[in-house]
Amino acid sequence: MVNVNELLNRAKRIGEVIDQKVKEKKNIIILGHLDADGIASASIIAKAILRKNGRFVVRITNSLKLKTIYKLKEEDYDFYIFCELGAGMGRQMKEILDDKWVAIDHHQISEDEKGIDNVINSWQFAIDGTREISAAGMSYIVASNMDKNNIDLSCLAIVGALGDKQDQGEGRSLIGLNEIIVKDAMESGCLRVTKDLMFYGRETKPIHEAIASTTTPFIPGLTGNRDSCLATLTSAGIRLKEGARWKTIAELSEEEKGKIVEAIIPYLTLAPSATDKVKELIGNIYTLEKEDEHTSLRDGREFATLLNACGRTGNGGVGVSICLGDRDFALQEGERILAEYKYTLNNYVQTILGDEKRVVEGRWHLMIVGDGLIDEKMLGAISSILSGITKFEGKALFVRTITNDNDISFSARKTKGCSPALNLGLIMAEASKFDGVGGGHDVAAGARIPPQRLNDFLKVIEDRLREVNEGKRFTFR
Ligand code: C5P
Repeated sequence: MVNVNELLNRAKRIGEVIDQKVKEKKNIIILGHLDADGIASASIIAKAILRKNGRFVVRITNSLKLKTIYKLKEEDYDFYIFCELGAGMGRQMKEILDDKWVAIDHHQISEDEKGIDNVINSWQFAIDGTREISAAGMSYIVASNMDKNNIDLSCLAIVGALGDKQDQGEGRSLIGLNEIIVKDAMESGCLRVTKDLMFYGRETKPIHEAIASTTTPFIPGLTGNRDSCLATLTSAGIRLKEGARWKTIAELSEEEKGKIVEAIIPYLTLAPSATDKVKELIGNIYTLEKEDEHTSLRDGREFATLLNACGRTGNGGVGVSICLGDRDFALQEGERILAEYKYTLNNYVQTILGDEKRVVEGRWHLMIVGDGLIDEKMLGAISSILSGITKFEGKALFVRTITNDNDISFSARKTKGCSPALNLGLIMAEASKFDGVGGGHDVAAGARIPPQRLNDFLKVIEDRLREVNEGKRFTFR
């Protein structure tokens, strides 16, 4: 049963533990996962500690391996805070790091792990960490228990939730505990929520570029194709310029916005789920009111993409600096990284879509083989985009690549039309038990395994997918 009071009690206790370490001037390391939610989550805790003049370093990293925890121990920090990292490794952490750690998370964990005192995870309180609260949200609850003035950090919690695509309510709104955090953010004057067209860069980019940059929804023929967007909009009679200056979507009248939707519908109507896709064009916009209108930080979703870009290109520190408040060098650098990241992502996607050999179709799943093409840190971003493409709908989607350590890394996504009972996080946790690590959410999960275990891994996946499609349910195995 959902138990928010117990969550608040634990957040208070974890906040007190961190507070105590700060007072004792302990050397703290905060480890955050490399996606937007992980970076936002780590940054919220960092900011809360900074405000108490504590000593800390932040490190942004890909999923944890056992040997990483051993290495961390050798580095001799006094206290370890894991943000959106380490789910499934609670027992090993306890064994290796003793009581010198806490883990703040929202990934699914086993009953055993729920019982570990060092863990604060939404699932311990029956709160859906896939849809209703992010790791950044969990960090925010801890931080606001450390000091109520941390209410302004609610905006970062919203960025984390949007980064994890938790905007799954009506009109792409945030729901559950996220909705309460939205209220805090509005109360603190840092957030405005409105309804509008959802194109990426609606306040910052020329209209055709905004549409070309939009991957949710994925618009076949337009996503990733600026020239085609320009031609479509021009022939629909939409005025894209004011004198010599390109206009943005935010500047358009309601009538002009209507014309844009009409011009795009033909590209969407080829899809069986066209009505849903058209609906995805309009929804809640989360505007960070205190950010400059001309930066990618103004729109919560774009802020999240920028953090993802930083984390997934090995520049997590830039993302953290931005979250901590640097609006000079770090922001400039972040914008540059973002532009490059979008370009690279688009290239990956176009290459995959243009090479049938990279798409291997199974009875219940699709395997996209990114070996030798996709950087391991980019896997999640690519699988998220591919999972929105109509022709991949109906089957579980896996994207794989070979890592720098010669492991095989997987990113998995549910697509539209998959069985509601399918829980990819549990499947990945089970399949990676063969010397690997894995887990995640029901809709989005990942794993990393040594290559010699590939067949065992694929067998578990195939078996579980068959079972779920035959109507059986999952639990932790
Ligand atoms: O990397 P990707 O975006 O595909 O990850 C999807 C989800 O699965 C994320 O929440 C991530 O933290 C989780 N994951 C995990 N263990 C892994 C890889 C990913 O729990 N080894």
